[in-house]
Amino acid sequence: MPTAVELIASRTSLRPRVGVVLGSGLGAFADTLDDRVVIPYGEIPDWPQSTAIGHAGKLAIGKVEGVTVAALAGRAHLYEGYTAKQAAFGIRTLRGLGVESLVLTNAAGGIRAEWKPGTLVLLSDHINLLGQNPLSGANDESLGPRFPDMSEAYSRVFRQAAREAGASLGVELPEGVYAAVPGPSYETPAEIRYLRAIGADLVGMSTVPETIAANHMGMRVLGISCVTNHAAGVIEQKLDHREVLDVGERMKGTLIELLRRTIPRLV
Ligand code: HPA
Repeated sequence: MPTAVELIASRTSLRPRVGVVLGSGLGAFADTLDDRVVIPYGEIPDWPQSTAIGHAGKLAIGKVEGVTVAALAGRAHLYEGYTAKQAAFGIRTLRGLGVESLVLTNAAGGIRAEWKPGTLVLLSDHINLLGQNPLSGANDESLGPRFPDMSEAYSRVFRQAAREAGASLGVELPEGVYAAVPGPSYETPAEIRYLRAIGADLVGMSTVPETIAANHMGMRVLGISCVTNHAAGVIEQKLDHREVLDVGERMKGTLIELLRRTIPRLV
């Protein structure tokens, strides 16, 4: 049985330099790559299958403005029963294929009241409240160090590149700290007050295991949240996954264009 890296490398001669993970409702970018080869996750050995609604479950390798990109439409979450290590499997595979620059997108709740649904926010940092770390267990020294530095988990240079790409589109991109929680229940208003008090601006159920694994392997990371809703209790309104997907759908054109303009600046 081939490894995931071997299987993917056998399907295309393209060798990706940039990886992009597409969050809930944000998968459409994968269908815009030029000369693309698409591989359903089910055909890749050991790949965790995505079960969440709004997650397609496929890898697309193709080109954006001449840059070869691997896009993951759909990711594994802890609320599906996966471990943080499984959630990071795709990132390790991308590294094995040669990817050095990573863009992680997600849908998130906005803790700052001024961020209306549809706001795109660059991650400046994160808080891991998952209770798990993808690096727990024996360290593979060939991948990275036992105790990796996380003091610039989201690259400053990449954030600047994304801000410039956004400006060329007339989109301002504020920065914020992302708190990762296990889910799947949304937070209570008291939990959101707690998250605000500890310094979080956004809340979501993904991304952090991937960021940790990427930093371990020396990759540079850009994180982009699409604020799909005000977090619980920020305004008087109940949370609904339908709203999360609808806002993702509404923002997909802007996000695709932002990615198209940002990616060439990441290589
Ligand atoms: N909380 C957690 N995860 C989310 C949210 C939220 O409000 N919106 C989208 N993903």
